[in-house]
Amino acid sequence: MKKEIKVAYEEFANLGELSEADRSLCLEAVKAMENSHSPYSKFRVGAALRLQSGKIVYGSNQENVAYPSGLCAERVALFAWGANHPHDPIVSMAVTAHTDQFELLQPTTPCGPCLQVIAECEQMQKQPFDMMLYCIKGAIWKTRGIQTFLPFLFFEDRLQ
Ligand code: THU
Repeated sequence: MKKEIKVAYEEFANLGELSEADRSLCLEAVKAMENSHSPYSKFRVGAALRLQSGKIVYGSNQENVAYPSGLCAERVALFAWGANHPHDPIVSMAVTAHTDQFELLQPTTPCGPCLQVIAECEQMQKQPFDMMLYCIKGAIWKTRGIQTFLPFLFFEDRLQ
């Protein structure tokens, strides 16, 4: 039997098409890139989380000369949330990227491990959150909840 899963997301042509709250969070993600430590890849990534209280949590990719020791912007932000604000739910997340090496013409989508961490955060707070993937010279992709990007995520109740 052949089965199919459809992935649904919204595409916006530019920031002007977003709500004020979503637009400002995308700009916070741009701000987050300022602290990217990416001398090896020269690929800067910024992530910003809007919490229910209105607080913004920032993350940027942090690389290391021992390459695997670095971490993506998304996980830096999400782990900062878990460590500092676990009872203040995440309402939305914005991610953006920039490099001087080539032109980025479509949104940067989070890597598999980051998607798995997003899934865990949604589980922790028992509600999904919006995610905006913002390409500065292109479109914004928006989705609610991780199931869109990671339909077969690892989720094993019995491990608890
Ligand atoms: N990176 C992120 O921070 N987030 C992503 O979604 C993809 C990749 C970082 C990891 C590394 O510092 C650089 O981008 C190049 O892979």
